[in-house]
Amino acid sequence: MLVLGIETSCDETGVALYHTERGLVAHALHSQVTMHAEYGGVVPELASRDHIRRVLPLTRQILQTANCALSDIDAIAYTEGPGLAGALLVGASIAASLGFALKVPVIGVHHLEGHLLAPLLEPDPPAFPFVALLVSGGHSQLMRVSAIGDYETLGETLDDAAGEAFDKTAKLLGLGYPGGPALSLRADQGVAGRFKLPRPMLNSGDLNFSFSGLKTAVLTLARQQTLDEQTVADIALAFQEAIVEVLAAKAQAALRQTGLDRLVVAGGVGANRQLRATFSANAARRGFEVYYPKLEFCTDNGAMIAFAGAMRIRHATPKGWKFNVRPRWELSTT
Ligand code: KG4
Ligand code: ZN
Repeated sequence: MLVLGIETSCDETGVALYHTERGLVAHALHSQVTMHAEYGGVVPELASRDHIRRVLPLTRQILQTANCALSDIDAIAYTEGPGLAGALLVGASIAASLGFALKVPVIGVHHLEGHLLAPLLEPDPPAFPFVALLVSGGHSQLMRVSAIGDYETLGETLDDAAGEAFDKTAKLLGLGYPGGPALSLRADQGVAGRFKLPRPMLNSGDLNFSFSGLKTAVLTLARQQTLDEQTVADIALAFQEAIVEVLAAKAQAALRQTGLDRLVVAGGVGANRQLRATFSANAARRGFEVYYPKLEFCTDNGAMIAFAGAMRIRHATPKGWKFNVRPRWELSTT
């Protein structure tokens, strides 16, 4: 079965073709980063309009790469939520229209399910059950993943998501948008130990996170310093160390609590180099396995949506070509 996946929940248009026997056949992405950069963040209306321009040309491109025709598509998966309402509507309506024209089933996918299943696209995928740490721009949560569609929330952020904290901190350090990659690059130039920032909720005894206080601590520190290039790098490093330490400690606590020894790290922040180095070192030391998607499938992409759709559609009852979007949607209710 050949599944077309369409991702348009935020500022990346992603499309992919996943074949249930042959695996990922083709994928393409258009990032809107340069378009939003001059505004310092995502402008929802601009995002929707750009998705409209990109989805069909990108789809034609991957069909050509895969040497397939539209008529070879057996099912279509789109991101139903969570995300920006207008942006989601673009993917949903194009998916439903294509499905109607081709008379193939269409399925709405949860964006975070896409993220947490992305490591299953790799050659050595984790077996179920596993713990997933989902750290993206809009979400930070720890899940117990027992099977496709069986997700239990173990803990989550009480305020900012990890990616949001990276983005806001980068902005207040003058590092621009998108903040996560920029802050992480600057942290590479930092000197460890010059600044020490708080580790929020490290010892809270539960699996929840809180990152807004960390951002405020950076703001206070930044006001006390002359922000030359080296100082910005040192603060960026102190911030990154704090966030990585909290994420690592909570993920390990989730493994202890569930008795599992497989951890998946997914979502945009999972692309962070220091985070990966810390998690891999901890895994080797403490005897658990850690799985990441390849870097390009850490951030938003169509491959994870095509894959999640392919896994779901086997058990789904086709609902015709009505479509729906859910800008707010809890993963554990899917
Ligand atoms: O998963 P994603 O592409 O989109 C959402 O679903 O939100 O995640 C985007 C988030 C942004 O906040 C971005 O700054 C962060 O992931 N990010 C990073 C890195 N690459 C992306 N944060 C830290 N280090 C990175 N290398
Ligand atoms: Zn995402």
